[in-house]
Amino acid sequence: MLRLKCISDKFGSRLTLIQLRTFLTAKFPELDEFPKSIKSYDDLHKYSIENSDHFWGTLAKNRLDWFKPFNKVNNGAKFGDLENYNSQWFLDGKLNVSVNCVDRHYQKNPNKVALLWEKDEPGFHESVTYEQLYKMMNKMANLLKSCGVQKGDRVAFYMPTCSMTVACMMACARIGALHSVVFAGFSSESLASRINDANCKIVITANQAIRGGKIINLKKTVDEAIKLYPSVKNVLVYKRTENKFEFNAEKDIVIDEVLDQFSSECQPEIMDANDPLFMLYTSGSTGKPKGLVHAQAGYILQSAFSHQIAFNFEKDDVFGCLADVGWITGHTYIVYAPLCNGGTTVLFESSPIYPNPSRYWETIQRLKINQLYIAPTSIRLLIKNGDEWLKKYDLSSLKLLGSVGEPINHEAWHWYDEVVGQKRCKIIDTWWQTETGSLMIAPLPCGKNDQIKPAMAMRPFFGIDAVLLDEKGNEKEPKNTEGILCIKKPWPSMARTIYGDHQRFINTYLRPYPGYYFTGDGSHVDNDRHFQITGRVDDVINVSGHRIGTAEVEDVLDESHHISESAVVGFPHDTLGEGIFAFVTLRNDADFNEEQVVKELKALVKSKIAGYAVPHYFLFVSNLPKTRSGKIMRRVLRNIASNKFDEMGDTSTLFDPSLIDEITAKYKKLK
Ligand code: WTA
Repeated sequence: MLRLKCISDKFGSRLTLIQLRTFLTAKFPELDEFPKSIKSYDDLHKYSIENSDHFWGTLAKNRLDWFKPFNKVNNGAKFGDLENYNSQWFLDGKLNVSVNCVDRHYQKNPNKVALLWEKDEPGFHESVTYEQLYKMMNKMANLLKSCGVQKGDRVAFYMPTCSMTVACMMACARIGALHSVVFAGFSSESLASRINDANCKIVITANQAIRGGKIINLKKTVDEAIKLYPSVKNVLVYKRTENKFEFNAEKDIVIDEVLDQFSSECQPEIMDANDPLFMLYTSGSTGKPKGLVHAQAGYILQSAFSHQIAFNFEKDDVFGCLADVGWITGHTYIVYAPLCNGGTTVLFESSPIYPNPSRYWETIQRLKINQLYIAPTSIRLLIKNGDEWLKKYDLSSLKLLGSVGEPINHEAWHWYDEVVGQKRCKIIDTWWQTETGSLMIAPLPCGKNDQIKPAMAMRPFFGIDAVLLDEKGNEKEPKNTEGILCIKKPWPSMARTIYGDHQRFINTYLRPYPGYYFTGDGSHVDNDRHFQITGRVDDVINVSGHRIGTAEVEDVLDESHHISESAVVGFPHDTLGEGIFAFVTLRNDADFNEEQVVKELKALVKSKIAGYAVPHYFLFVSNLPKTRSGKIMRRVLRNIASNKFDEMGDTSTLFDPSLIDEITAKYKKLK
């Protein structure tokens, strides 16, 4: 047993071992295998970094089922090795993630509910037990095999958040195929380019989706997408609604009609710990979206471990991550982590305000959700709608409230704490990214309630060596300062590469600050060395928790025959966190009707990317502010779009400084 010593310290600065131990008893039996000199979270955290092989190796042995044990925890890859960087974990270990997520729970507890699918139709949910999921997954795996899908193949998904999506993801994991889930709000062109980039031969979709009572014709979008890439061999269609859809006899297979013809047993593929598990696209500051590839063992281990510890997940809890399954939050904390931990996970298909702003609260009461995990943008939306929507619901099942996707403002944090949590629940702000696979910075929900500081993600998680750099790449003393958030050492659930372009992976994440993983985010640290993420430091905008590369939107706008040049920046938005502001210059010969052009530009972005990427404002200007060397000075545009006219900074390198006054005057008129 470790000695229990309480070290008193000021407000939240140290979590002592006694606090940790009370909290971790059932969830972290490995604690006893670490040295007795560890007395606090900080000590254990330090140990997890300095003895990372022992730390992760112990967890991986205890927590995962292996066909063949690994013989080395980590290959010692260094971020500074820009030539040969290739991080590997649990080398030579063999396992199957679907066995870890489904089989082992099905064998022990077949009737336990694995999935609670909260349908868009208010008041309706469907439960799927581990036994049912096991059978669905295997039948689906056999169906995929019958379509010729093999280990290493990529399968595109264009699906709503529903039980079938999870069964299909697990089916891919079972046979060693990579799922590439494309958020079902993307346009046919975005879908097509993702299908093409990963050379997917199979697409899984639904005839329709329903969201907030509105029907969305997913199959139709898939048909449009594959017209552009006829190499797709089959489209597997799940009938989410009874409505008819256009059936292409050559390619389409209706899942519901054929699934029962397949066996409910399917041998799991024996996968190497470092084989790819799935890929997922995300936007960056340059170029087209990147297909990040996650690997098997490291991803599942760290996801499941962080889920248990950071969310204080107990085995009979109902976990309510109410994101869309099409983003990394959904992959990790709706699907993989809760299932690996044998939990019950909620699939929320609807919207927080459908049919009215009580939707979350009614769902929490009916499904008895214990942990709620949502984005600040939803919290702000619900605040706007008023507290009366919560009042008649029993939210006593809630134990913990999590936030993710964007910085949480104080008002939202306190409302979450006081109105939703009624001061009873732990609040955790969790910072992480598609690239990181699982959460990286989050307060541990233990100790006294006031040890969690409002609106702060606080503590780098076990094994995460987070640092702040100045612009020149020097590490800053992490006390009461701010800087560029970087990570010093690889961690198990880190994405391994960009599909088909490892060099781009290195250039994007490892080259900007050699020796470090560059997150793209800035952070503040306080006197207690606790982190508060401030937002992106690159050209990525975060609109209601969705990442959008400014370059992506600009590329689309520049395609319009009206536009000569564009610059897109983010600005603070009440509910969305950030909004999108487009500054555009017109071609000389443009036949110009402002309203009409804006309409066309909006439609263009919607059709080329997605609805959420459409700029909120367009401002037509005579020229964009550029330096003498021709670079657009985005800082100036960001300040104008944010109403910060007095914070322009040094504009002496501008080719034409008078432009600032012109643009500012036009902006004031627009607003
Ligand atoms: C932002 C979502 C502040 C950040 C899991 C990051 C956050 C990007 C937080 C990743 C948070 C995520 N506080 N900002 N708690 N969580 N972000 O890949 O800018 O969709 O780089 O992953 O969201 O977005 P992604």
